[in-house]
Amino acid sequence: MRSPGLRLVAPLVLCTLDAAAQPLRQLAEERGIRIGTAVQSALLEEPIYAATLAREFNQVEPESEMKFGPIHPAPHQYRFSPADTLVAFARRNRMAVRGHTLVWHRQQPAWVTEGRFTPAQLSTILHEHIRKVVGHYAGTVYAWDVVNESFREDGSLRPTIWFNSPGIGRYGTGYIEQAFRWAKEADPRALLFYNDYNAEDGNAKSDAIYQMAREFKTRGVPIDGVGLQMHLTTKIASLLSVEANIRRLTELGLQIQITELDVRLPVDAAGTASVMDIAKQAEIYGEIVSLCLKFSHCTAIQTWGVTDQYSWIPGEFPGQGAALLFDPHYQTKAAYQAFRTSLSIPSRNWSFQ
Ligand code: G3I
Repeated sequence: MRSPGLRLVAPLVLCTLDAAAQPLRQLAEERGIRIGTAVQSALLEEPIYAATLAREFNQVEPESEMKFGPIHPAPHQYRFSPADTLVAFARRNRMAVRGHTLVWHRQQPAWVTEGRFTPAQLSTILHEHIRKVVGHYAGTVYAWDVVNESFREDGSLRPTIWFNSPGIGRYGTGYIEQAFRWAKEADPRALLFYNDYNAEDGNAKSDAIYQMAREFKTRGVPIDGVGLQMHLTTKIASLLSVEANIRRLTELGLQIQITELDVRLPVDAAGTASVMDIAKQAEIYGEIVSLCLKFSHCTAIQTWGVTDQYSWIPGEFPGQGAALLFDPHYQTKAAYQAFRTSLSIPSRNWSFQ
């Protein structure tokens, strides 16, 4: 671990891109970290979206296109083309691709949720799904969110079709372990992550994830890392507590990736946030980047979208938004400048794999 990062005071104004300044991906490459974002592949047809993405980021992850429902809409039908479009874009622009996600309780197809399958049948379905999807992207997707959001806030396992309703016939975290083993079988070279939200700092959920990860490592279950989503507000948990959680996970030998970073703000009808909140948001972005850079095992920082124009936030949190680094007109925000300032501090001189 390196010396503590600096606490940043962010500029209060919206900023346009300084043409002479290095884009984020270039700074990230110099710091030995990946900077990624979630992408809706249909948006690649919008020239300014594609240009901003290719200029600033060196990692992409499909926001929905690799989830079970979109990619496997019928028992014997796989719809790879939207995600393939993103993979091709990434290759053309020298970007890494993260896969998201193989096992989740949301966005599942009706043929699975309404199929009244037995545990044995569900086990076969999930094994086949992982084999096909991970196999299709072997050699292109370098890391997978194998299992997403399995724990509830109190640290208990969330009831899902894969766990216990009726489940695939494994006890406790056994279904998670099984998914990791199947993913490893399908692509032995891919890094395999468990991914969750509200598990950044020390709490019942992050404790449960830590216990599971420690137990998996002890028994040789092929887990390589934990994804911390970081869907934040300005009332962020203690950074010291986040740091302690990252430290205990990295001490297990696991990678940490910040997978879905955004900081949502109250906005008016035009989608505009207050100057105070924009400054606070910038400070948080800068602090998260500095925190990640303190750990050699924190290998990627990814935002959940490029521009506020297409963020999931206003849809799920009415009255909130402005959560990302670029405004709806692709102008950089104070958060972008703070992100860049933190990346510019040469506190790290190692490389990712
Ligand atoms: O593609 C269909 C389209 O064909 C259909 O006409 C339309 C009608 O509603 O729906 C479209 O699918 C939507 C999809 O996003 C693509 O835009 C789904 O309804 C909608 O539920 C889906 O929402 C996504 C959500 O996950 C559920 O999968 C959000 O965009 C995405 O940002 C969100 O991402 C999740 C992460 O995967 C996990 N962590 C939390 C994060 C935020 O909820």
